[in-house]
Amino acid sequence: MSGLDDVIAAETRLSEVDGLNGRLVISGHTLDELAGNRSFEDVLALLAGDMLPTGSALATRLGAARLRAFAEVAWLDDAILGLSITEGLRALMARLHDGEDADTALLLAAAPAVFVPALVRRRAGLAAIAPDPSSGHAADMLTMLKGRAPSKAEVLALDTYLVTVSDHGLNASTFAARVVASTRAGYTSAMLAALGALKGPLHGGAPGPVLDMLDAVGTPDEAHGWIANALAHGERLMGFGHRIYRVRDPRADALKAALARLGAAGEIDAQRLELAEAVEREALAQLKAKKPDRPLETNVEFFTALLLEALGFPREAFTGVFAAGRVSGWLAHAHEQIEGGRLIRPQSRYVGPKAA
Ligand code: ACO
Repeated sequence: MSGLDDVIAAETRLSEVDGLNGRLVISGHTLDELAGNRSFEDVLALLAGDMLPTGSALATRLGAARLRAFAEVAWLDDAILGLSITEGLRALMARLHDGEDADTALLLAAAPAVFVPALVRRRAGLAAIAPDPSSGHAADMLTMLKGRAPSKAEVLALDTYLVTVSDHGLNASTFAARVVASTRAGYTSAMLAALGALKGPLHGGAPGPVLDMLDAVGTPDEAHGWIANALAHGERLMGFGHRIYRVRDPRADALKAALARLGAAGEIDAQRLELAEAVEREALAQLKAKKPDRPLETNVEFFTALLLEALGFPREAFTGVFAAGRVSGWLAHAHEQIEGGRLIRPQSRYVGPKAA
């Protein structure tokens, strides 16, 4: 059955994934330019175009939106806390009103960054921490997670992550957002559709398999033998290879640089980094020897896992943190679809039994 490969389902000014050259362009800027240099707010403004205010007005209104989102945390009950973090995020997002206005968009842009730390803390038996609307978005998300002000290196690392995953062409969750937005159901319904798609293990819902692999390898000395054994048994190494990127995954490079900055600031466990470096070295060498004609490079998942772990997010929260970054792209695509698009309504070919 077709997965719509090679079908052009939308025209967009938002992002271009150039797999052959290993480039990701977001609203006219390469990811190499943006990651590590721009904040979540900057890239939200870039993507949102005329949908949202820009500059300090955006930061102020996003801060106010985080406060509005926090009021919803009062609805966190045992039933929601019994769900996975992604399902808990979905439940809290579903309570928000629908609309196609800037206030609704800002509330949705703010919500995952507020709900995910609250879910993490409440599930751990800790009180949720209220946002500080005067803080930067990434800094506030980390304060709400940790209960202390983050270091500059930590804020830069989370901003780099949120920017890196902000948009990536017509991936499944973004397409879901566009389909729902095209019915004019409203931004909240479009974000819920996107979050539902993101949750699946084939998209953003397989949190932490890279960390599971690192845990299984154990120590740098065991990397060679563990990887040789896994490949001999036909297993896939988590965090390597990509369907579209052939020469490099620019998101992996952006996050690797962010990790190196965290390492230089002494903000990452040195042993964990040493193990990850040994696993990456061995994996790349052995994959090259096994598949000399198929470039298999480190992908975004490998460094995402290490970065989010170093920032203190538990692995079951990784999908929610992904949503906190990708929500900017989802909103921009929903807006673009509403502004210029028509109802998305493809055809199917009937292959069932003939009627009498
Ligand atoms: N480990 C071992 N072998 C691999 C890996 C890997 N990570 N990736 C590809 N290969 C091998 C395949 O076994 C295949 O060998 P074969 O021809 O003998 O069957 C060959 O390389 C080509 O593989 P494809 O399936 O054509 O690669 P494809 O482009 O379809 O898959 C994918 C891309 C799914 C990401 C794959 O590389 C993979 O499974 N990686 C591990 C899981 C992972 O890291 N997922 C996150 C991806 S990043 C993201 O989606 C956000």
